[in-house]
Formats: sequence, C-alpha cells, structure tokens
Amino acid sequence: MGKDTSAYRAHCLVFAYPAQGHINPIVELSKRLKHKGVEVTLVTTNFISKNIQKEVSSIALETISDGFDEGMTGQIENIQTYLERFERVGSKNLTDLIEKLSRSGRPVNCIVYDPFLPWALDIAKKFGLVAAAFLTQSCAVDTIFYHVRKGELKLPLRGPEVLLPGLPPLEPQDMPSFIYNWGSYPGPLDLLVGQFSNVEKADWVFCNTIYELEQEAVDWMSKIMPMRTVGPTIPSMFLDKRIEDDKDYGFSIFKPNTDACVKWLNDRPKASVVYVSFGSMAALEAEQMQELAWGLRMNNNYFLWVVRASEEAKLPKNFVEETSEKGLVVGWCPQLEVLAHEAVGCFVTHCGWNSTLEALSLGVPMVAMPQWTDQSTNAKYIMDFWKMGLKAPVDEKGLVRREAAAHCIREIMEGERGEEIKKNAFKWRKLAKEAVDKGGSSDKNIEEFVAKLVARKS
Ligand code: UDX
Repeated sequence: MGKDTSAYRAHCLVFAYPAQGHINPIVELSKRLKHKGVEVTLVTTNFISKNIQKEVSSIALETISDGFDEGMTGQIENIQTYLERFERVGSKNLTDLIEKLSRSGRPVNCIVYDPFLPWALDIAKKFGLVAAAFLTQSCAVDTIFYHVRKGELKLPLRGPEVLLPGLPPLEPQDMPSFIYNWGSYPGPLDLLVGQFSNVEKADWVFCNTIYELEQEAVDWMSKIMPMRTVGPTIPSMFLDKRIEDDKDYGFSIFKPNTDACVKWLNDRPKASVVYVSFGSMAALEAEQMQELAWGLRMNNNYFLWVVRASEEAKLPKNFVEETSEKGLVVGWCPQLEVLAHEAVGCFVTHCGWNSTLEALSLGVPMVAMPQWTDQSTNAKYIMDFWKMGLKAPVDEKGLVRREAAAHCIREIMEGERGEEIKKNAFKWRKLAKEAVDKGGSSDKNIEEFVAKLVARKS
C-alpha cells in the first residue's frame, strides 16, 4: 500500500460491529488511516473472523469473543440478549487486548469504535486513550436518533410533519422504520438511539457521509459534538485511486460469485442491465419478491439480481430457468465492481446506507425500494433532495407492485426523467471523488485527526 509523505505514527485500535454493513465502512476508514501513516489494528469477533473471506493483508487483525463464538448476530429479535452479553464478555476481552498490545510493545493511542458498542468509549477513557466514534449511517438519520435520545423527538410520532434542526421537513413515513412503525422493533430502536448515550464524551465523532451532501445536518450536529465527515468510505480504486491495492473492502461474510457476474456483464451492451440487490439483511415478503420478479420479467432490460440463499425460496417457481435469456440470479456479487461496470444502467436498491453511497459514488441512478430501518429516510433523500433516483410507490399493503417497479425502471433506463437523474449522478460522482481526494473535505478531516493524534502522542 502506498503511503502519504507524513512520517508520524500512532496506533489506532479499530473496533468493528459484526455486520457486513458496518464492517465495510470501518475497514475502509482503517485503510485511509493506515495510508496516512497510522498503525491500525482491526478488532472483530471470533465468530465473524471464522466466517469471513479475508483479503486485507495490510491491516493487522485481532479477534475477541463476544460471548457467541458459534454465532447469533443475525437474529435481530434477540439483539438485546446479544448486546448485553457482548458488553459483559467483550469489555473484559477488549481490555485484555489493549493490555496485551501494550505488553508486546505496540501500545494503542486511540480507539475508533462503532457506537453500536458505546461501552468501548468507557474503555478508551479508562486507559486515557483518544476515543473516536464512527457513525455508519447518514447524518440525517443520526440527527433523528440523536433527537430521540434527547427526548426532543417524542414517540410515537404525532402530526403530518416532522421538523428537526438541520433537516428538511419530513413526513412520518420518511422517518426510519423503527420510529415510524413505533414498537415494531424495540431492540434495534434502542440500539440506534443508544449510539448517542455518551457520544458527547467522545473526542471525535466521524460520520460516513460527504459534507457537501448533507451540509445543513452536519453543520448542526457539529455544534453539539466534534463531528467530522469522512466518507464515502469506498475502496480508493473506485474514487481517488491513491491507495493502489485498495480494490475491494476485503472482508466479506458472503462469498461473491465474481467470475460469473463479471463475465455475464462483459457480454451485455452499455447501460443495458438493471442491477437489483437488497443488501445483507433485509428479508422481503414472498409476495414482494414475486411482484418484483414479474416486474423485471415484464421489461425488456437485462437484469442481475442478488438473491441471498435465505431468500431464494421466495422466487416464483422456475423463475431462474425461464428468464435465463435476460437475467442472472446470484447469491452474492462484488457489488462495487458491478456498479462500476459500464453495462449497468440502474440499481434497484433497498437503500442501505453503504449501497446508497456506493451508487452515488459510482454515478448509478437508483430505483428505491426501502425495506426497513434507515432505508426510508435514505430513499427520501435520494429522490427528493439529491435527485439521484425514483422511489417506487407502494400500495396499501406497503408492496411495490410489478407495474410500479417496471415503470420506475423504464423511466430511468429510457425516460426523460432518467436523463435528469443521470446528469445528477455525474455530479455526485465527481463530488464523492473530490471529497476523499487530496485536499477534499473528508481527506482534510482525516488529516486533521491524524495530525492531532500524533501531536498528542509525541
Ligand atoms: C445494514 C442496514 O440494513 C442498512 O440500512 C444500514 O444503512 C447499514 O447496515 P445492509 O442491509 O447490509 O446494511 O445494506 P448496505 O448498507 O447497503 O450494505 C451492504 C454492503 O454489502 C454494501 O457495501 C455492498 O457493496 C455489499 N454487497 C451487497 C456486496 O458486496 N454484494 C452484494 O451482492 C450485496
């Protein structure tokens, strides 16, 4: 990995929350820190480490037990049990690890942690280390949960509009699902709100966004906490190309069908393929899968659809065989490579924050089909503020019907609205690259952090 000119060094322990959508961005931030001369040790759980495809040799990896070495994180219903045990077992193990690193001559100066695990801040403070929280969702979403934590956004929501500082007026259905459907998932709601339980005590609060994308929200949050934007945390080779071997995230829980996808895309004409994916967690209703399948079938476009093994049974019978002329269905794909491929013309997405930032960074227009958590808020911004896609309308059951899905795809692939969206896509792509390139807003923030860390150490 090529390095910046800065000769200084400090040592950051980077503590990841064990989910794909959280590991990817924190690993990329780690690579940026390393590139700027900081020693980085990434910490994940024993279970994740055993089950992950690892391809990052440049970052040292340590694992600790979260109390569930045989796995559990996927079971969202039991999130409370998971988090309680993780805190109990994990805080002791993280403490032991810091002491071990110190004894072995590689003492740590700072913990960069995912505030899904807010107790990591207490450990940093106990050892007198710099504490940097890394928020993995959009600043708008962070602002919303911050206000819930402060009691300034009362739940359940009342009235037709939500007005919060730094944010445009939002309708209730644009709020994260745990808020809008209050009571639907109390455990995950507590987790998201809990990120802000002690964040004021952090020395730094990194947010995986681009300043220019969410200026008002970032300006407002920066008055409350030492927030700095560091996004988009996407492998450098897709943006500024300054970190030579940084071509993918390098830590994958699922095994991608890389060769099959790339070979198939290479044989398709430019901007002819609709890429469809709902990320690593969302479980669609069977009826929704069927409607989307019919929608894709109705249109003339090619499609590449990621259907995780746990979702496969919901596809219509014989769908894969019957659509094999125009479609490829895979269990997991190298999403960045797919989005960067010139054959891809549009992305039907659940609007997970990583997928959203990836599509913005690679200039791929989106058809938004949010499923839960922060995705409805991201979808609102994609369509109405960043004008980077269309949100597929839902019926009274909350489902996107086949005609609606097919229509939105056609609008983007062939319609007039698609032209406007493509122009905006080009603009955001440029902005994303500039943010992480030398002297860009995120690059400067990371530089400032590293410089202060090193100054404090020496
Ligand atoms: C979760 C939440 O659902 C999301 O709303 C939140 O913002 C982050 O945590 P997830 O559902 O997995 O994440 O979605 P997303 O944030 O989009 O992350 C998925 C990651 O997996 C992306 O980095 C994407 O590139 C990658 N991916 C996805 C692949 O590499 N291959 C695939 O086939 C699908």
